[in-house]
Amino acid sequence: MKFRIETQSDYTEAYKSSIEQPEQFWEEIASHYSWRKKWTKALEWNFTDPDIKWFRDGQLNITENCLDRHLATRGSKTALIWEPNDPKEKSLRFTYNELHAQVCKMANVLKNLGVKKGDRVCIYLPMIPELSFAVLACARIGAVHSVVFAGFSAHSVADRINDSQCSFVITSDGLNRGAKQIPVKAVVDEALESCSSVMKVLVVNRLNWPVQMHDGIDVWYHEEIEKVNADCPAETMDSEDMLFILYTSGSTGKPKGVVHTCGGYMVYAGYSFANVFQYNENEIYWCTADIGWVTGHTYILYGPLLQGATSLMFEGVPTFPDPGRLWQVIDKHAVNIFYTAPTAIRSLMASGVDHVLAYSLHSLRVLGSVGEPINEEAWHWYHTHVGKGKCPVVDTWWQTETGGIMISALAGISELKPAHAGLPLPGIQPCLVDAEGNEISGNDVEGYLCVKFPWPSMIRTTYGDHERCRINYFATYKNMYFTGDGARRESNGMYRIIGRVDDVINVSGHRFGTAEIENAINQNKKVVESAVVGYPHDIKGQGIYAYVILSDMNLATNQTRDEIIESVVAEIGRIAKPDKIQFVSGLPKTRSGKIMRRILRKVAEGEIGSLGDTTTLLDPLVVDEIIKGRL
Ligand code: PRX
Repeated sequence: MKFRIETQSDYTEAYKSSIEQPEQFWEEIASHYSWRKKWTKALEWNFTDPDIKWFRDGQLNITENCLDRHLATRGSKTALIWEPNDPKEKSLRFTYNELHAQVCKMANVLKNLGVKKGDRVCIYLPMIPELSFAVLACARIGAVHSVVFAGFSAHSVADRINDSQCSFVITSDGLNRGAKQIPVKAVVDEALESCSSVMKVLVVNRLNWPVQMHDGIDVWYHEEIEKVNADCPAETMDSEDMLFILYTSGSTGKPKGVVHTCGGYMVYAGYSFANVFQYNENEIYWCTADIGWVTGHTYILYGPLLQGATSLMFEGVPTFPDPGRLWQVIDKHAVNIFYTAPTAIRSLMASGVDHVLAYSLHSLRVLGSVGEPINEEAWHWYHTHVGKGKCPVVDTWWQTETGGIMISALAGISELKPAHAGLPLPGIQPCLVDAEGNEISGNDVEGYLCVKFPWPSMIRTTYGDHERCRINYFATYKNMYFTGDGARRESNGMYRIIGRVDDVINVSGHRFGTAEIENAINQNKKVVESAVVGYPHDIKGQGIYAYVILSDMNLATNQTRDEIIESVVAEIGRIAKPDKIQFVSGLPKTRSGKIMRRILRKVAEGEIGSLGDTTTLLDPLVVDEIIKGRL
């Protein structure tokens, strides 16, 4: 079996063989990586417990595959380009030799601080090179990284640290975001007031800010790095040892720690990267995600480095110093493959096409999209103005839980259809089911999107609570992994993702559970109850619409609105701020007390003509009031 798919018939052949003989297929793909000890069994699985093991008894270290393996042939090739927030600051380049040395040094710093194999390390850092070093350094010594996006609040950081009992934190003094500078260490300080498991905090100096360093706990990275050399042998890891935890929101109030393991994740990250983007040696690849999300894990770091690519990491935002920044960076570094989110495309569309036309963008060969359904208008704008009509746009559907891209065109190989993710990658067996869990066969059909056979980078468990993993993903439909998404399968077998069918909203490509936001709103003492729904938002994809009952309607002021927003910012972070807050005297509930979210969604969407039957409600009149007060 060829590792690299080059033609449509390669794809057909690879797909066929991956379905007929999945174990043999993945064994062949896995043999392209270096293993310290070969596995004894490719796959053991059941979706009932669930229990999934890939490459059993195999031993490896993913960083040896990302770094050491390339040194003989690509030692002086650039592995990482770092572009700072401010275009006036110098960008940095790290060759594979240099990245290897940086990772080994950081790994030795961690070891000196007492980090051991299996320890959980919370990484709360902005998009600076040390974030990449930190992630890979953990993997090098077998520590489990739990990267928390540096926009989350102290409360969210504390929850995540406590859930996985992290003993170490890596952070920075502050961060740059466009024209703003934001404290980071101070957030960790606040979080640690309620975290007893943390023994040491390693602090990177990004802004030269004075920060409060606590004796015996906080240490500066630039001081520790002076004490170590660049010699750090990689720890031997079992294929099923934990590689990382990444928290993501579900329909319950508390985000869960999705667990990925070493062997399977490595195999799928590299294979999917190489084939979806059709990366060629000497190309420059840029994914604009933050490493705090799964896209950054798999497609800024692991996937590209596994394939010996040059990956660009960007500290800034698309609109600073002006909305031409992404296009300027593409020209500056002659980027060939560009992977971003629909929300970024839509916001830049709104700033006008002149910002794009000011740059040549002639280096671009492939464009990618991820995070939410891309609407046709944004797809065409991206294809026409950014890709100049000549770059394939791969619309990649996947999830934190899937570890890698599941459904997508392969650049330059597959047929493209705007707003369609397309066909599954080899080894991926998606299916659509009805509400009873019966598989819907044939094409031109719609249903709940499931996957009926394991793939190497799939979620293994949710940290500390396996039952939660079972209930969330494997109990809804028997013998299937349930994605939480609805999808259509078109006449040609291509998939079109419709969106979440659970109580999860996708705001600018970031997932939030409605219950999570409601919990945050309810922290405000004036709030009695709240209900949150998503509604279509021009830029963000979905916006957050909150219906709030106050203890006294006289409190329904703009000041209360601001306070509620502050509660959400404090509990979750700025990224989860409600867009609209409507004060109501009641919520539409069934006689058994369940909130009829369908009605609230319709009102938020402005579809008040199609509310459906409201007669079963406890108080049907409340709906009229809600419609009248609609924002
Ligand atoms: O609803 C789907 C949407 O994002 C969800 C996964 O979110 P997260 O775990 O945060 O990962 C985002 C990046 C991989 C999915 O359940 N989603 C992601 N990509 C697409 C998408 N929806 C439609 N089209 C996509 N390409």
